Amino acid sequence: GVARTPGGGLTFPAMRPMKLSIRPTGAALGAAILAVDLARPLDDETFRAIEAAWHEHEVIFFRGQDLAPEQHIAFSRRFGALEHHVRQDCCKPGYPEIFVVSNVIENGRPIGSQDAGLFWHSDLCYKSEPSRGSLFYAREVPHADDGSPLGDTVFASMTAAYRALPEYVRRAIDGRKAVNSYLHGYYRDRKSGPRKELTEEQKRKTPDVEHPVARTHPATRKKCLFTCEGYTTRIAGLDETESAALLAGLFEHLKKPEFLYRHKWQVGDLLMWDNCSTQHLAIPDYALPQRRRMERTTLAGTAPY
Ligand code: OGA
Ligand code: MN
Repeated sequence: GVARTPGGGLTFPAMRPMKLSIRPTGAALGAAILAVDLARPLDDETFRAIEAAWHEHEVIFFRGQDLAPEQHIAFSRRFGALEHHVRQDCCKPGYPEIFVVSNVIENGRPIGSQDAGLFWHSDLCYKSEPSRGSLFYAREVPHADDGSPLGDTVFASMTAAYRALPEYVRRAIDGRKAVNSYLHGYYRDRKSGPRKELTEEQKRKTPDVEHPVARTHPATRKKCLFTCEGYTTRIAGLDETESAALLAGLFEHLKKPEFLYRHKWQVGDLLMWDNCSTQHLAIPDYALPQRRRMERTTLAGTAPY
């Protein structure tokens, strides 16, 4: 409502933008955003402050959120269009925008992807227009006997990794492109055993693509390393040995401890990562009867340059 200040002026408390409270993790990336309820519509100024914090910190998270799928989707849509995953069998029934990552089996059938993210990657980097970012909501988190959470996700800053590259490596990758392959990522060795065969239609939807080895972030203009262990198969224009050696060096480099933030999940966390400026890795250190159930929306993105 409208309130009258002692000086006689009018204020509009319901519309006054919140000053964001941001607590950086102290690692190369990541910040907690405090005191925001994502279940409620956000004013534009608060939304823009959240987007700016995300661009700056690359991974941001909000603890203690209580979100219906519609609210998760509504907040995600503030950032733009959402993707529908190629694996619709892994999506939440009735919500093609929500990709489920879980070890839970219901009626003899996995309710989502059971082995997502076991290799360093960014989401949809195998598409010609990779995802801009993903919003991950924790519904169930596994625990050790002492109560500490299991199933962490590790994030690596690709801006920090790029900045720290030796000059000769930067020169070697400058202007080069690399091949990313969904099929390579899909079929590679997995502890959980071989995955079920993709349909011809799923394969047709995911042809190999070439992307710059280092791309420019469309919002911050920072250079980001964009090859990943999960999906990158070779560097175009180099012979096989040179390409393999350079990729092995890059993959080793980007997971150095100084570029990492390891997130310990709590039920109710909504965490969003930037798929251009970061890569991530799941830690599969839990098993049933400990349940893990996470839900992801995936923002559409633009062609890398
Ligand atoms: C993903 C992913 C990692 C995890 O959903 O994109 O990689 O920790 N998840 O579940
Ligand atoms: Mn992922």
